[in-house]
Amino acid sequence: TNEPLVLGIETSCDETGIGIVRGSTLLANVISSSMDEHARYGGVVPEVAARAHLEALVPALQAALAEADVTLDELDAIAVTSGPGLSGALMVGVGAAKALAVSLDKPLYAVNHLVGHVGADVLDSPSTGSGTGPLEYPTVALLVSGGHTSLLLVRDLVSDVELLGETIDDAAGEAFDKVARLLGLPYPGGPEIDRVAVGGDPKAIRFPRGLSQQKDMEKHRYDFSFSGLKTAVARWVEQTRDAGDEVPLADVAASFRESVADILITKAIAACHDHGIPRLLLGGGVVANARVRELAAERCAAEGIELRIPPLSLCTDNGAMIAALGAQLIIAGHAPSTLDFGADSTLPA
Ligand code: KG4
Ligand code: ZN
Repeated sequence: TNEPLVLGIETSCDETGIGIVRGSTLLANVISSSMDEHARYGGVVPEVAARAHLEALVPALQAALAEADVTLDELDAIAVTSGPGLSGALMVGVGAAKALAVSLDKPLYAVNHLVGHVGADVLDSPSTGSGTGPLEYPTVALLVSGGHTSLLLVRDLVSDVELLGETIDDAAGEAFDKVARLLGLPYPGGPEIDRVAVGGDPKAIRFPRGLSQQKDMEKHRYDFSFSGLKTAVARWVEQTRDAGDEVPLADVAASFRESVADILITKAIAACHDHGIPRLLLGGGVVANARVRELAAERCAAEGIELRIPPLSLCTDNGAMIAALGAQLIIAGHAPSTLDFGADSTLPA
């Protein structure tokens, strides 16, 4: 069918996401997050996330069916994230999806989480940025969250996605979380850094731009590194305190945020240039960052690159993007997965 009714299940990290789409029309997007349970640990605890998925999945499914006003019987197919992600967390979603597929006798599509983030942009909710209308190819996609920092070259959503580069240590969101923690701010750190950075001077402190030196650019042109940046902030804060001075929180937050935004957007635009692609799609929770959005808009406008940013509810982890990708696979005539697939925590794009 041209407008398949697809249920999407996402459990790769700390969001239990259940989405329902009809073709590229979003019908339901229910998200239950275990973020609060991880707060006191300062980061996502895999075992805690897996248990939370187990509890939240069926209620989220029921809420999504009600929101979309459809029954399980009406579904044409089910799509589920099989990786990458936390393996215990993935297994909850994959197990549930297989049980549904077998009992309902519906086709099941195992999909890649990162490609799912790109799939979010085929949904007919209005993007911000300069891009309008449905997703076009080819596009470069920059996916930045607490779990991943990846640069993809998408020639075709369902058949040709190339991983250009990724972080070699911390994810960008993780860097925000760790720096917030060392500044005494709560988890998740991204929104806190954004809040504290208001009124700060982004040029006050020149923090390093990881993997951006000439010597790094051959081997790591599209890779990211944030652990050196985090260490640099820690050292700067420590030295300031040792000297008996007060830490200028707003300046540190603004300068740190500037460094992350600069690294991310510089590399994404380089990928667009190198491959002659006039389009950049952003995804993942870090896209909420005010400076990342601003710098992306500025630089894309200056370079004539179309910038696409799906609504935030589709940028953070969700089931609708997984359902949307499943629907595209069906429309393109792909065969469903055989039911013996596992949860692959390190699946490449
Ligand atoms: O996509 P997401 O919800 O999925 C997970 O990785 O679980 O992303 C969460 C991450 C966290 O690391 C959080 O600190 C970061 O996104 N984040 C932000 C902002 N809002 C959330 N980072 C920077 N600035 C923000 N405003
Ligand atoms: Zn994600």
